[in-house]
Amino acid sequence: MSSTAIVNIATLVTNDPSLGDSSPLGQVRDAAVVIDGDRVVWTGESSKAPATDNRVDAAGRTVIPGFVDSHSHLVFAGDRTDEFNARMSGRPYSAGGIRTTVAATRAASDAELEANLTRFLTEALRQGTTTIETKSGYGLTPEDEARALRLAAHHTDEVTYLGAHVLAPEYADDPAGYVDLVTGKMLDACAPHARWIDVFCEKGAFDGDQARAVLTAGRAKGLHPRIHANQLTHGPGVQLAVELDAASADHCTHLTDADVDALAHSRTVATLLPGAEFSTRAVWPDARRLLDAGVTVALSTDCNPGSSFTSSVPFCVALAVRDMGMTPDEALWSATAGGAAALRRTDIGRLTPGARADLVLLDAPSHVHLAYRPGVPLVTGVWRRGARVL
Ligand code: NIG
Ligand code: FE
Repeated sequence: MSSTAIVNIATLVTNDPSLGDSSPLGQVRDAAVVIDGDRVVWTGESSKAPATDNRVDAAGRTVIPGFVDSHSHLVFAGDRTDEFNARMSGRPYSAGGIRTTVAATRAASDAELEANLTRFLTEALRQGTTTIETKSGYGLTPEDEARALRLAAHHTDEVTYLGAHVLAPEYADDPAGYVDLVTGKMLDACAPHARWIDVFCEKGAFDGDQARAVLTAGRAKGLHPRIHANQLTHGPGVQLAVELDAASADHCTHLTDADVDALAHSRTVATLLPGAEFSTRAVWPDARRLLDAGVTVALSTDCNPGSSFTSSVPFCVALAVRDMGMTPDEALWSATAGGAAALRRTDIGRLTPGARADLVLLDAPSHVHLAYRPGVPLVTGVWRRGARVL
């Protein structure tokens, strides 16, 4: 194993409040970070960096933890350009479009799905994402769901079984039968390939009782719950997430004060996905309200062909700052440490000794430029598990 020091960093974001400026981002100026193998072993002032095998000169740029995208849907085929076009001419988004992607995904070969998945993962990595969660949900048969999870598990440990995305077309008139399948034969086929179980708790998808049945069945098989909650309308999803100690309630767009209060008094992270509101022209989630109440917030892409076809965390950071009431500091924290919390991980989302060496070099004097210079490709270096990959 060889050691590398990245020196002359104008601003190093550690996400350790005991370091540097003592803010939640723990920013150290004129800093260095030392990597040994796949871990961070030292951070501090650049002039005090220990001797290492290799040296990289950051030349006054910024280093941040790699982004942790804790919510994406990357195993699919086809796209939904026509649906997007229709939406931008005034048609509303509906969960029904998911079935278009289900048909294309079922018809695709393993090689096609793998090629698509690799393409989106590469896109994400180039934009600084070093950990990504991804889901099934476009197969909706035991075989197609298990296939999606198997393919995803080759690339990430953070794999989520979302057989309860919408009713499979074959079960359009038999919701109880479909829930039986999702919690029975399909769960048996999928559980070995996944860490998490998810359900789309929404009008037109699954109600609170169905969602509870799905998540508790998954839990009995060793999967941990997370939930698509309160995205399009108000519903029971957030309360259910808190009741079941889900790692995350995702979307959190339509919330009552009781929902916010429940989240604030729980371990459940509120994951906000502004790519979805952008691409569906929907009302923005109110991040300010959640943060002011003390809720832990994560920021992720929701990358999928229907509601949010972006793999760019920097884009989501810019939206969150511009339209959701987050400061640039809060948005960066949520896209790194917040994502890690939504995956119940402590080894990523921070740059302190012992953490995984997942780092991003930004061609900017500070992370504020992520929102200040929206759409500009500021990511100029990426290290994952200590290896430089960009
Ligand atoms: O998170 N809400 C449910 N699932 C996705 C949308 C999937 C689709 O439209 O294909 C979401 O937004
Ligand atoms: Fe989603």
